[in-house]
Amino acid sequence: MAILMDGRATSAKVKEQVRQETEALKAAHGITPGLAVVIVGNDPASRVYVNNKKKACEAVGFQSFEYALPEDTTQAELLELVETLNADPKVNGILVQLPVPPQIDDKTIIHAISPDKDVDAFHPANVGKIMIGDYAFLPCTPAGVMELLDSVGVEVSGKRCVVIGRSNIVGKPMAMLLLHRSGTVTICHSRTQELAAITREADILVAAVGKANFVTADMVKEGAVVVDVGMDRLENGKLCGDVQFDEVSEKASYITPVPGGVGPMTVAMLMRNTLTAAKLQNHIQ
Ligand code: GUN
Repeated sequence: MAILMDGRATSAKVKEQVRQETEALKAAHGITPGLAVVIVGNDPASRVYVNNKKKACEAVGFQSFEYALPEDTTQAELLELVETLNADPKVNGILVQLPVPPQIDDKTIIHAISPDKDVDAFHPANVGKIMIGDYAFLPCTPAGVMELLDSVGVEVSGKRCVVIGRSNIVGKPMAMLLLHRSGTVTICHSRTQELAAITREADILVAAVGKANFVTADMVKEGAVVVDVGMDRLENGKLCGDVQFDEVSEKASYITPVPGGVGPMTVAMLMRNTLTAAKLQNHIQ
């Protein structure tokens, strides 16, 4: 039976560290980090994520500013809000929850966010910095995965790493972070042939597919480290991941549960990025 990589415990540690640093920042410089979270429309999953981000801000001592905009918001209206937030010194981080409704082009919005306030690290300037390994912020979900691997002492260097999924939010940056740690990285996706043969080679397997129970035990090498980034729903409404937990946990050495694995880490890393943004904007190391 695999050892669990516990996202609740590890995220609590990261948030406690951020809380203490925030307290010190307030005491020494009178600065309270501020995060603006923008949600457009009524997507129920997005609502849950945004509420979690707000609660985390309170727990670590940040100011949070929520902007809940109606489903029919125009791109021009959202751009105007982003410009206002870019100019507001109380706002150190700006996050526009994705997906946005179809009348809004998410690339245009991401481009409009000031790169120093881009705590998602989605702006092309920040993506480019990640590519060359010279960055201030890392995208929250892949950074959270690295923190979980570190929490149990998994060594990446020299290991075969397979990432299933090639999204800009998870798959591509995840592969880059594993590469920065000297993993030998393969990215698989919907057109990959002989997928199971590739995943069976993985010492570290990261599933970011978005399909419930997609990764089965026959796709996993004995003793592999398995990270599940999925947040999927079964037909009965139950939350599950991309990995068939019951059977894969019999074969893996370490595994993340869903819920309670990568999900809480994403929020904790967002808090860390917002603190970093506040320090950088105020020229504090
Ligand atoms: N939607 C799903 N994950 C994320 C995320 O990490 N950031 C933003 N802004 N939207 C998301």
